[in-house]
Amino acid sequence: MTPMAGITDSAWRQICKSWGADIVHTEFVSVDALYHGSTKTMQMLEYKASEQPVVVQIFGKNADLYPKAAQLVAKTGVAGIDINFGCPAKKVAGHGGGICLLRDMNSVKNIVSKTIEAVDIPVSVKTRISLRKIQGQPEAGDITVFDFIDALADLPIAALILHGRSYEVPFTGPVDLDMLKKAGQKFKEIFPDAPFLINGSFQTVESVVEDLKYTKADGIALSRALYGRPWLFKQIKDYIATGEYQEVNWATIKETAIKHANLLWESKNDRAFVEMRKHLLFYVKGRPDATELRKQLVRVENPDDVAKILKPLK
Ligand SMILES: Cc1cc2nc3c(=O)[nH]c(=O)nc-3n(C[C@H](O)[C@H](O)[C@H](O)COP(=O)(O)O)c2cc1C
Repeated sequence: MTPMAGITDSAWRQICKSWGADIVHTEFVSVDALYHGSTKTMQMLEYKASEQPVVVQIFGKNADLYPKAAQLVAKTGVAGIDINFGCPAKKVAGHGGGICLLRDMNSVKNIVSKTIEAVDIPVSVKTRISLRKIQGQPEAGDITVFDFIDALADLPIAALILHGRSYEVPFTGPVDLDMLKKAGQKFKEIFPDAPFLINGSFQTVESVVEDLKYTKADGIALSRALYGRPWLFKQIKDYIATGEYQEVNWATIKETAIKHANLLWESKNDRAFVEMRKHLLFYVKGRPDATELRKQLVRVENPDDVAKILKPLK
């Protein structure tokens, strides 16, 4: 499961883990905030033992802040650190972080090598296939993931998660499977032992398996496809192992949603419970009474409210 700001908190990670996720990522965490000891940011690093292996994703433009930030992360006992080189959001890329870092491959190399030197846990990287021009930044010419892989060639990076979309088309449309395939080939030539994971736009169990075959990737990192259906991990694994998988019935969906609500309640304060509402809308998607249910679910305040609405439903 990839990092997703506002989504991949401890409760969601526990749910995904319980459905077979091999590795879960936290939401991205700013190296600036870690460096300056932000209490709120340190709270974002909290996790339960059952979530392991947990990987914390960090972001920021200043290479000098990475070693201390990475050491703080490593102290929590998580399994690894991932560095964000793909975020297109204005508040990240517009300040020189995320995908904007690709404009200066020396900086990329510097950030990754400083982080690797600072900690004993594995350090992976996540990026996109390409970038042309970032609004408000000087033209840097076409930059691709091939340049990125070249820049990291001398470093012992632990894995690459490659989102198959460019900066220019950040979240919509299909991924570029040919670019994913070619990048994977190049990555494995240089890093034969490091997993290459593809990411982006994956919707069905069958398409995931086809895309894995086509790109020859070692694995897949799932994101929005998981909304309301964390069992996708189990279904994909079952399909790979046996050629078949089970649809999930409403009793299981309901049980998962209620468990999710309870985990969120336990791990965050009650004010944060409103975050559960968006997940609930996805859990009921596809039910004939979804529209009616939505009206009730957008008002839930606690796990009891959730159980009261969902439990009686057949
Ligand atoms: C709400 C949201 C938050 C995200 N936050 C992060 C993040 O913190 N770090 C990151 O590397 N990618 C982040 N992403 C990108 C996803 O990890 C993923 O690369 C992207 O959604 C493409 O996969 P998909 O098409 O399967 O959703 C985010 C995406 C969404 C939709």
